[in-house]
Amino acid sequence: MTANVKDFSIDNMPQAVLEEYGAKTEDPRLREIMLSLITHLHSFVKDVKLTEDEWFKAIMFLTAVGQKCDDKRQEFILLSDTLGVSSLVDSVNHDRSGVGTENTVLGPFYVPGSPEKKMGDSIVQKSTEKGETAVANGTVRDQQGNPVEGAVLDVWQSSSEGFYHMQDENMPDFNLCGRFTTGADGKYIFVTEKPAAYPIPTDGPVGDMLRACGRHPMRPGHLHFIITAPGYDRLVTHIFTNEDEYLDSDAVFATKSSLVGEYKVTNDEALAKKLNIKTPFQKVDFDFTLMPSK
Ligand code: BEZ
Ligand code: FE
Repeated sequence: MTANVKDFSIDNMPQAVLEEYGAKTEDPRLREIMLSLITHLHSFVKDVKLTEDEWFKAIMFLTAVGQKCDDKRQEFILLSDTLGVSSLVDSVNHDRSGVGTENTVLGPFYVPGSPEKKMGDSIVQKSTEKGETAVANGTVRDQQGNPVEGAVLDVWQSSSEGFYHMQDENMPDFNLCGRFTTGADGKYIFVTEKPAAYPIPTDGPVGDMLRACGRHPMRPGHLHFIITAPGYDRLVTHIFTNEDEYLDSDAVFATKSSLVGEYKVTNDEALAKKLNIKTPFQKVDFDFTLMPSK
């Protein structure tokens, strides 16, 4: 027997690994994260009695996830999204239930630099055949219910055919995107198309994983918002389309019942005239409550 050789075995794992990382990792937060990660990974391997073939398959899967990434595609974020991790990270960091409008995931299709719009403008540059005209309308408020002046609503959505502007070469840049700034009344209003359900990208390893696990890739229809105002927490959220068949099975686990907006068919001729649209049209009324910044 050679002296000073450490004996690593199923009996002293993960303790032996934890001792090594615990003793040598100087940054306290990194130490906390590494020790917890190692503990969970080891107990996962023991739990499922991972075979060598399965371990190698997992390595090849993660390699393929990395190889699918480029400056336009982030397959690792999609993996995090479809495992519910992105939504959990969001909830852990922005718990607003009951006190302010809830946050939800940003998603990969936000592009900064949307055109600035006036209240009442349309964000539709090129409409699609199935696109139903819709008006989104509401007020941005603080926790006391007062209107928030100077709130910027950065809005984006996919077309009724299920594509964001950068995914479809037939769509003009920033189609279905816009930036609106509230006045003293905190109100916002714009014209768009009623958002439809659409699939997340499935042409990569994450798509293979969804198929292997019998999961569909659909997200319920939604409007995306980033709302910023001086003195308030940034709000990243959606208004989901009511009665969408995927509200109970979002591919990325990001739905919240408080974020479902009710679209109603409307025959308001005066409003239609003001917004330069035809009746009947869909209308969703949805107010946002901002939290003061910490
Ligand atoms: C989105 O809503 O744009 C989205 C979010 C997560 C993954 C894919 C798409
Ligand atoms: Fe989306």
